[in-house]
Amino acid sequence: MKHFLSFEDFSREEILEIIDISRKIKAELLNDVKIPHLAGKVLAMIFEKSSTRTRVSFETGFYQLGGHPIFLSSRDIQLGRGEPIRDTAKVISSMSNMIMIRTFGHDRIEELAKYSAVPVINGLTDLCHPVQVLADYLTILEEGFENPIISYVGDGNNMTNSLIMFSAKMGFEIRIATPKNYEPNNIILEKAKKIAEISGSKIYLFNSPEEAVKNSDVVITDTWISMGMEDEKEQRIRDFKNYIVDDNLMTLTNKKSIFLHCLPAYRGYEVSESVIDGEKSRIYNEAENRLHAQKGLMVWLNKNLKI
Ligand code: CP
Ligand code: NVA
Repeated sequence: MKHFLSFEDFSREEILEIIDISRKIKAELLNDVKIPHLAGKVLAMIFEKSSTRTRVSFETGFYQLGGHPIFLSSRDIQLGRGEPIRDTAKVISSMSNMIMIRTFGHDRIEELAKYSAVPVINGLTDLCHPVQVLADYLTILEEGFENPIISYVGDGNNMTNSLIMFSAKMGFEIRIATPKNYEPNNIILEKAKKIAEISGSKIYLFNSPEEAVKNSDVVITDTWISMGMEDEKEQRIRDFKNYIVDDNLMTLTNKKSIFLHCLPAYRGYEVSESVIDGEKSRIYNEAENRLHAQKGLMVWLNKNLKI
């Protein structure tokens, strides 16, 4: 049985299999065909942080696959009052077929997975956000980029870490621009560089957004203040002031480049209104693709329960 906690545990072939299923299921849905791959199954969705897209896409997706999703806010379940993760994992997995969790420290999801009898999916931790990157990749493919040069400007956060590990596995070139002291996670970076030696991926770190985005096909950014970092807001706004993705920056990219943002976005901070609402932006396709990508993932996990 396989969990989906990060791209580290997945091969390029497995990622492609997931995306293949996602594309097929998306095409079927557009023709009003809904195959109940997960009929009679239950998905427990635990949220220790807020969410719009993750909740709606998992809940809708699991329902469309014929199953029943249960929304569990940590404000309402005993986990939020200090019940151990180990007990929560054993109890919930004894009554459900899959668990999705959005939480803080990555150690929390690792512990949940360790004691869960069913596959656990990462719906975002402080360390990574791999389901978002699956949706980003589906969007990138739909735009016709088979071997994209990806650039990321801003905070070296959970999105950045997942984009790096994903690109390393896939053999893509990824260029990251962050201010000093806001670099991505060093352990992930070192692991990704080793994987890149085999996959042919190129991973570059810059401090200059201009250097990073030069000739890239896809420009990605994210909020400067991730969930749980609210106390650092003023300092971060000062430190990131030169890292806005605006029209000037976009002119340095490939003519056919696109702009992605996992959302929620803060216009005028990490991205200008003209870019996020402009012709290169694919943010709403990207958000919708959360639904399709995660359906592919859940069908894949269910099919591969024996590995
Ligand atoms: N992108 C993303 O995960 O959005 P939510 O926080 O709304 O789930
Ligand atoms: N980096 C952001 C992503 C939100 C979907 C956060 O962790 O808050």
